[in-house]
Amino acid sequence: MGFYDEEKTALDYIAMAEGYDGNLLIAAMSQHLPEGAEVLEIGIGPGKDLNILSSRYRVTGSDNSRFFLERYRQLNPTADLLELDAVTLKTDRKFDCIYSNKVLHHLDENDLVRSLERQNTLLNSGGYTMHSFWSGSGVDEMHGLKFHYRTEDSLRATFSEHYDIISQVPYEELEANDSIYVLARVT
Ligand SMILES: C[S@@+](CC[C@H](N)C(=O)[O-])C[C@H]1O[C@@H](n2cnc3c(N)ncnc32)[C@H](O)[C@@H]1O
Repeated sequence: MGFYDEEKTALDYIAMAEGYDGNLLIAAMSQHLPEGAEVLEIGIGPGKDLNILSSRYRVTGSDNSRFFLERYRQLNPTADLLELDAVTLKTDRKFDCIYSNKVLHHLDENDLVRSLERQNTLLNSGGYTMHSFWSGSGVDEMHGLKFHYRTEDSLRATFSEHYDIISQVPYEELEANDSIYVLARVT
């Protein structure tokens, strides 16, 4: 059982993340992705972003934490949810967009590349990916979780292997320019 799977630490995370959501990312994505598109979210956590996404898109939520999936299911009995790992993404469904907010920083570079390659195969023609990362370099470990910080250059190099980058934007989560989002499209 990990940090996001145990009730106590998962509830601590929910309290810590109070007041933060993906509104900025979703607004940027909405400039490109038409209403009604099919969106998969990787790592829904408490589901704040999934709720925002669901007002405009047909959404499927996913996580590898049963705690978060079951919690969201209790609050939203008809939600379309999948238990998926961000790297392997074992589903035969297809989507117009795959979205995550502060999830893929838990993956090392090798697994990030594997995830992006797998996402490519799950996306419909011309589909989009939108993902956010913590900005910086190096790796931290907190509560047994790895945090891989990314620079703009490294994200550009990694995403451009499989996608056309539409926008890569530094933004503020906790402090100025501590985060970067990448919106990209299948080439
Ligand atoms: C920062 S939270 C996401 C918060 C979410 N965007 C929201 O709207 O509240 C990170 C989530 O990613 C999930 N996660 C971490 N590593 C994962 C992996 N390898 N595969 C799938 N989900 C993962 C965690 O279980 C957690 O629910």
